[in-house]
Amino acid sequence: MILQHNISLKPYNTFSIEAAAENFANVFSIDDIFELLDNKLVIRDKLFVLGGGSNILLTKDVAGTVLKNAIPGITFISEDSELIYIRSGAGVNWHSFVLYCLENNFAGLENLALIPGNVGASPMQNIGAYGVELKDIFHSLQAVHIEDKRLATFDKEQCQFGYRNSVFKGKLKNQFIITSVTFALLKNPVFNTSYGVLQEELDKMNTDLSIQSIAAAVINIRKSKLPDPAFIGNAGSFFKNPTLDENQFKILQNNFPGLSAHRSGLGYKIAAGWLIEQCGWKGFRKGDAGCYAKQALVLVNYGQASGQEIYGLSTDIINSVMDKFNIQLEREVNII
Ligand code: FAD
Ligand code: EPU
Repeated sequence: MILQHNISLKPYNTFSIEAAAENFANVFSIDDIFELLDNKLVIRDKLFVLGGGSNILLTKDVAGTVLKNAIPGITFISEDSELIYIRSGAGVNWHSFVLYCLENNFAGLENLALIPGNVGASPMQNIGAYGVELKDIFHSLQAVHIEDKRLATFDKEQCQFGYRNSVFKGKLKNQFIITSVTFALLKNPVFNTSYGVLQEELDKMNTDLSIQSIAAAVINIRKSKLPDPAFIGNAGSFFKNPTLDENQFKILQNNFPGLSAHRSGLGYKIAAGWLIEQCGWKGFRKGDAGCYAKQALVLVNYGQASGQEIYGLSTDIINSVMDKFNIQLEREVNII
């Protein structure tokens, strides 16, 4: 484990924002983490855990230490008649893990293909796409408590998963370093094609339904509307889709009959992309900061935008959605 100083984080965040880390270390094992926590230069409450950097917006240099979690390894744990339990190191690239499961016919992750980032961050916001969330195939995780230097295990209930949320974004924020995640995957697939555009894409592809064809359809859809961070800096959806209760929804729908929304639990999930588009932001660009022309929920860095400029644009969008719809948008991306 090598502790480096004054390292540029530009290659480590998909927004491609320039910012420096005071200290920086790659960790490849739990022992590396313990060694880093014992280092005299490392102040434990100034530790920032980094995965693939695909859900952060850096608005300033990072004072303290960036721990880049690079713990490798995919391990078979156990199986029963229906499920197979597979553990992945936190530093494994998420999509590589999905591909590994597809190759081995372990079902459950196919709708979550091509999400950027690493396995270790997946429970943080309970990643979700095309009708499936991490919690649907999550079994447990292991994590190091930063202050006490102890290893803990969390089951699904303890993680308190919600829409783009978990206990690690709430009560236990900044307290744990996730080191591995164990998944309960299905031996006999249960296909989930309920997300409208997914079924449409599968119809277009005209292939047999399988976990591989679902993943291929998801990949096609994602490539058609989401910017590839290798070419345009971004962190996916910048805002969460807000939820309204039945009454609020009916009032809004009366005023805006074209409203894009769907039922979710007891309320309605409103498409924030639609709200933002209606406010005229889709395709907007000021300097190198912009609102993506094919998906208004995604903010982009066309080259040299600063984190402050992207953040400023997000504030302007929040204010205009509030003015027009009286809805408070919440940022989904972690602001650093
Ligand atoms: P990072 O950005 O490195 O970190 C995110 C947060 O988790 C930070 O607060 C960090 O401190 C913390 N963290 C990271 N690793 C650990 C760890 N091991 N232990 C403790 N804390 C940790 N998300 C979705 O849910 N659905 C999507 O469909 C989706 N599509 C996207 C499309 C694009 C083009 C992009 C760029 C992003 C998209 N995202 C999506 C967001 C992002 O990919 C996910 O949130 C992903 O899980 C982030 O992983 P990461 O490793 O890059 O996390
Ligand atoms: N829409 C518009 N204009 C836009 C964008 C969207 O009107 O510019 C409306 C359309 O009516 C569309 C609806 O919004 O039908 C939904 O759009 P889409 O299917 O692209 O999904 P989303 O709600 O914008 C969410 C997630 C994505 C996830 C997709 C697929 C959030 C915050 N975002 O986006 O996750 O991939 O659904 O499940 O929940 C991410 O978290 O980074 C992310 C990309």
